Amino acid sequence: MNIAVTPPRIADHPINPLFIERWSPRAFAADTVSKADLMEILEAARWAPSAINVQPWRFAWGLRGDAAFTAIEAALLPGNRVWAGQAAALVVVGSKLTRSTPEGAEVANSFHAFDAGTAWGFLALGARMKGWATHAMGGFDHAKMAEALSLPEGHALHAVVALGKEGDATQLPEALRAREVPSPRRPLAQTAGHGRFPA
Ligand SMILES: Cc1cc2nc3c(=O)[nH]c(=O)nc-3n(C[C@H](O)[C@H](O)[C@H](O)COP(=O)(O)O)c2cc1C
Repeated sequence: MNIAVTPPRIADHPINPLFIERWSPRAFAADTVSKADLMEILEAARWAPSAINVQPWRFAWGLRGDAAFTAIEAALLPGNRVWAGQAAALVVVGSKLTRSTPEGAEVANSFHAFDAGTAWGFLALGARMKGWATHAMGGFDHAKMAEALSLPEGHALHAVVALGKEGDATQLPEALRAREVPSPRRPLAQTAGHGRFPA
């Protein structure tokens, strides 16, 4: 049985509809999110797997209307700021570059970005399960964001996640309105190959 979300999402193989129902809107409704609800979503991210269970991911969050949100929003690039300011929450995803060994040394953790990406995936699906939409953004000023968060040494910034209830696309600037649909995916055979990556 194929699972479809119209348009243009059709799963080639049977999967939980959650996976194709999650998408990244830019239009958010006026709803606010409580700290308690946001913690439930970050809790999903907390349970992501990581190399040696180091859990290198870090999150900095703000709720619309508070100073943290305003500071994070101000560090977004203009093309994202134009819509992401309507989100109920902004969550910065980063990671710690090193891990502590049992001997007490601090060594590079080459999996920090991979694991932070896994945590973002859990966050996005956890949010969707609770009826919230998310939209990740790589478009932000890293220096400005680092300053806004008082980012400690030895940490990387990856993305900012806008979270909110899906809104009405007509509120978006015209150029973004046409893009406000769930995107398709290439066929699985072009992504996964038996014994080798597909050409
Ligand atoms: C790391 C990352 C960075 C992204 N950066 C931006 C961004 O700066 N602005 C934006 O509008 N969308 C951004 N996106 C959203 C992607 O374009 C979107 O997730 C992708 O097209 C797939 O669509 P879907 O999430 O609706 O399935 C980003 C997504 C990821 C995962």
